[in-house]
Amino acid sequence: MTEETLDNLSSEDRVFAPSPEFAAQANAQPSLYGEAEAGGVAFWEEQARELIWERKWDTALEWNPPFAKWFIGGKINASVNALDRHVAEGHGGRIAFHFEGEPGDTRTISYAQLLADVCKAANALTELGIVAGDRVAIYMPLIPEAAVAMLACARIGAIHSVVFGGFSADALLSRIQDADAKLVITADGGFRKGGAFALKPAVDEALLGKTNVEKVLVVKRTAQETAWNSDRDIWWHEIVDRQHSTHTPEFFDSEHPLFILYTSGTTAKPKGIFHTIGGYLTQVAYTHKVVFDIKPKTDVYWCTADVGWITGHSYMVYGPLINGATQVMYEGTPDTPHKGRIFELVEKYGVTILYTAPTLIRTWMKWGEEFPNQFNLSSLRLLGSVGEPINPEAWIWYRHVIGGGRCPIVDTWWQTETGAIMISPLPGVTATKPGSAMRPLPGISAKVVDDNGVPVGNGHGGYLILDKPWPSMLRGVWGEEERFKETYWSRFEGIYFAGDGAKLDDDGAIWLLGRVDDVMNVSGHRISTTEVESALVSHETVAEAAVVGAADPMTGQGIVAFVILRGGIEHLEGDALVKQLRDHVAKEIGAIAKPRQIMVVNELPKTRSGKIMRRLLKDVAENRAVGDATTLADPNVMKLISEGLKSATSED
Ligand code: WTA
Repeated sequence: MTEETLDNLSSEDRVFAPSPEFAAQANAQPSLYGEAEAGGVAFWEEQARELIWERKWDTALEWNPPFAKWFIGGKINASVNALDRHVAEGHGGRIAFHFEGEPGDTRTISYAQLLADVCKAANALTELGIVAGDRVAIYMPLIPEAAVAMLACARIGAIHSVVFGGFSADALLSRIQDADAKLVITADGGFRKGGAFALKPAVDEALLGKTNVEKVLVVKRTAQETAWNSDRDIWWHEIVDRQHSTHTPEFFDSEHPLFILYTSGTTAKPKGIFHTIGGYLTQVAYTHKVVFDIKPKTDVYWCTADVGWITGHSYMVYGPLINGATQVMYEGTPDTPHKGRIFELVEKYGVTILYTAPTLIRTWMKWGEEFPNQFNLSSLRLLGSVGEPINPEAWIWYRHVIGGGRCPIVDTWWQTETGAIMISPLPGVTATKPGSAMRPLPGISAKVVDDNGVPVGNGHGGYLILDKPWPSMLRGVWGEEERFKETYWSRFEGIYFAGDGAKLDDDGAIWLLGRVDDVMNVSGHRISTTEVESALVSHETVAEAAVVGAADPMTGQGIVAFVILRGGIEHLEGDALVKQLRDHVAKEIGAIAKPRQIMVVNELPKTRSGKIMRRLLKDVAENRAVGDATTLADPNVMKLISEGLKSATSED
């Protein structure tokens, strides 16, 4: 949070109000704020009544900070809400997914078909001995079976833990172990960047570790050569295809866990954030309806996230399906086979609502307007952004070049922990400012506070906090109650601290300023500095490592590492060593965590008490004059490091 950022913000005074036509037809009208304010918990009960419950709740909320229970006594099934209800209401023929594989293969899946697929998969899971409460790890490319697997777990009350397909075998193993998963659902591989990549070998490697995994269910996606353990591995098509296409669902407690999703925090060990059914579904359905203004009969909605992240859970699987939306699901990368692929698909499917991340918008800007300009994007009527602060330039470009100057933009702030959108414009109500997430949604209480937890006035910055419980809030960190309390609820007594800095402008609009802890945000993905440091130190040549996130024009932040090598062991030199270390981090965590730059140093800047001063390293990594270094044990260190980094090369 530098002075310069604050200054830039205060000069942003452009405002974009929704058109009268958009405002008139919008799902959310201005009165929603007042209704939520007046209703309190009753407002959320009203939203919960939009779902199908087998048994209604007795008590809406029980709040013993930091533990919340919502819709207590209610019985519900997530899969029934996402699928059966639409078929029962006569919409079985509506398209749920237009799937487009990277090589260009397509599948059109109706709600009736998706329900049948999920029923078959649920029957197969039952045949494999999976029962309610069991954990199932899902490690898949972005193909329809990933959503089918999630919904099949939900249908039988099994708790899914989706692990992003870009994570390494080691990262997969630690997540399987932490959740004690009994089954892994994967694929032979998927298609990306013009070729087939393999996934199953990483599962095989992970399962060399100690786990209680009994079976591995494998979708055949690429038909590549796949090593097979016939005692353990089962082809998806061999067991799923022969099942009945109907399945009688059981209903679960509102507070029964729906899923675990691991996310980086300030320590090396990822946190298993878990969500429960009733509250989570209530808020994802509500937010998807009011923020994306979804009209299920006419809209074609496309969220470009992967199911491996919370955005894919809330706004590709649960939210849109509960609302009966028609969606696009695309397996591959935005530049394969050409840089206009996303725009080509917008035109092909007549996409009306597009939800993506600032890093992709900036990449499109870099590639140039000629790619979007080749396609007809006039079907678009609403644009969304998520994952990191969107800079005003990118916002304006998104509005004009992609949205043709007519689409409202919803910049949505939320987290894996919050489960659903918390701060966002309402597209038919809010006059938006480029780069601001604007205001808490109706029903949500968010504030910006100072060090003492006192709300700051307009024009001031501080910490973003949430001071009232919300239905889709995380219920805990899997198996780590203390860590849950310590991480989120200890900074300010009984108040959720999100880890982000924010500023209120003179009108009280909220501007997110990035993380204030040791979490980096690289292309909208959270990676902890400690996690990368411990991966580096696990390499035999590294004695000590310090990692910082440095501002990066494309990815938001880039990972910059400073390492001290061990004495007395053979190691490679220069670029070869750096490559080996980057590959090592990719192996330990995944390619997304590869440092952009690694610099070998003799010393790290430390205080006399031995604490690494990351702030100074960040100055160097961001090419700034190094700040106050008077508390350093050795004041010369920073000079040497600054000179060294200027000559170090970056890759990718
Ligand atoms: C950041 C992603 C600014 C923020 C849904 C948060 C944002 C972290 C925005 C959560 C936004 C997300 N503006 N920053 N609109 N959306 N962030 O858990 O730092 O992957 O704490 O959830 O992303 O990342 P996560």
